[in-house]
This record gives sequence, structure tokens and C-alpha cells, in this order.
Amino acid sequence: MRDNGFEVVFGPEGQAATVRAGTTLLDASRRAKAQVRTRCGGVAGCLMCKVRVAPECEDALTAPTEAERRKLGPLLGEGFRLSCQARVRRAVRVEIPEDPLKAAVRKQLERQQSDDLW
Ligand code: FES
Repeated sequence: MRDNGFEVVFGPEGQAATVRAGTTLLDASRRAKAQVRTRCGGVAGCLMCKVRVAPECEDALTAPTEAERRKLGPLLGEGFRLSCQARVRRAVRVEIPEDPLKAAVRKQLERQQSDDLW
């Protein structure tokens, strides 16, 4: 542990912030200026703030809360956590999933580019 906190890195862009133990990933993302979406204000109500944690980093966060387990269901087993509920225990890197709207636009553009080649 560094004296002044733990580094939290948000992929895929790599924004980072150093925070104290107990800080939620959502608060860390705001400090890092990473784009974690939220609609419920951080009360495990919207599922929009989910991030993915590598299996080897699971113990870098607090255990899932009951609300988090209920909300995420099987996604929890795939490494997803709610950033408004998961709190930092040590340095960690998490991945922010691509925004669904952006993903749809990207796929459409890729299809168009593929069609243009033919
Ligand atoms: S901010 Fe809504 S579930 Fe986390």
C-alpha cells in the first residue's frame, strides 16, 4: 500500500485515480474522469454502472453487497461488479463496457465499410 492510497485504473482508455481504501469504484471513476454511466445516483438501482474485473483482481474489491448480488445475478460470475457498490481494498484495474448505443453504431459502420469493399 502506498501512503496516499491505491491506484484504480479504468480500461479500455486507462484513466486512473489514486483513492483511499473504502472508496467506491464510482467515486474513483469520477476522480479519474472515466465515463461510468449511472442513472440511479449510486443506489444499485439501474445496473448502468457495471464494470468488469479480472478474476485475479477480485479480492482488490470488497465482497459483493446483497443488493449487488440481486441486481447482477449471473453477471457477477462473469466478473461484473456495480461500481456504485464495490469498494476499493487495493490497487485494481477494471474495464468499462462499451456503451450499447456506441456499440450498435460501431457495428453498423463496420458492416457498411465491409459492404463498401465488395
Ligand atoms: S449507479 Fe445505478 S446501479 Fe450503480
